[in-house]
Amino acid sequence: MNDRFDSTAHYRALDAAHHLHPFSDMGALNCAGSRVIVKAEGVYLWDSEGKRIIDGMAGLWCVNVGYGRRELADAALKQMRELPYYNTFFKTTHPAVIELSALLAELAPARFNRFLYCNSGSEANDTALHAVHRYWSIKGKPDKRYLIARRNAYHGSTIAGATLGGMSYMHEQMPSKMEHVAHIDQPYWFGEGGPTDADAFGLSRARQLEEKILELEAENVAAFIGEPFQGSGGVIFPPSTY
Ligand SMILES: Cc1ncc(COP(=O)(O)O)c(C=O)c1O
Repeated sequence: MNDRFDSTAHYRALDAAHHLHPFSDMGALNCAGSRVIVKAEGVYLWDSEGKRIIDGMAGLWCVNVGYGRRELADAALKQMRELPYYNTFFKTTHPAVIELSALLAELAPARFNRFLYCNSGSEANDTALHAVHRYWSIKGKPDKRYLIARRNAYHGSTIAGATLGGMSYMHEQMPSKMEHVAHIDQPYWFGEGGPTDADAFGLSRARQLEEKILELEAENVAAFIGEPFQGSGGVIFPPSTY
């Protein structure tokens, strides 16, 4: 690349002119200038100034095997050359989706044996909601409509995902939300436990789920959604009693 195109200042200027970042104050960010990441290997990132950084968050919690895995690049290249894309609508399938589904069925607990693919976590949660409502409708219980979620949870940026999530600033930005969502408190002992010991706190927060089901009445409740540990909320692990 020539100097005009790979300088930090040039990238920052183009980024400010043409790129909207998610969850960002664009005015402040464009004044300060974004960090430009140009390379990654293993657990490390490099920025456009040549600084090496440990990627402690693994991207957005999703680079589970590290950067620069040659076998993944090789598999992607082979697939891109053979069959880069096809859908599975219209009574169609293809070897890549069949083989991946069979492998996931082998690796996942026995009751998870069929897979539907989505492009993001937000879309996956919206799709899970469709499945929940369809399930209760087929069971002859269409009144089971309520979803119980937790405050300070993150379930995505779509209207459904953000309504399920318990982040108030996201709710403030959405004049219309999904109906039939109720929130309970998070199992965040370190931040909210006060003098209560961790085990007792975990139980009291778990009991909120039961209390909410009783309040809404079980015949109206469709599902509970919760992150096993809250990522975006602050990497919060519940007490073991929870
Ligand atoms: C627990 C959880 N659910 C859903 C999402 C949304 O995923 P995406 O950003 O791929 O839409 C995230 C994203 O960080 C997440 O941490």
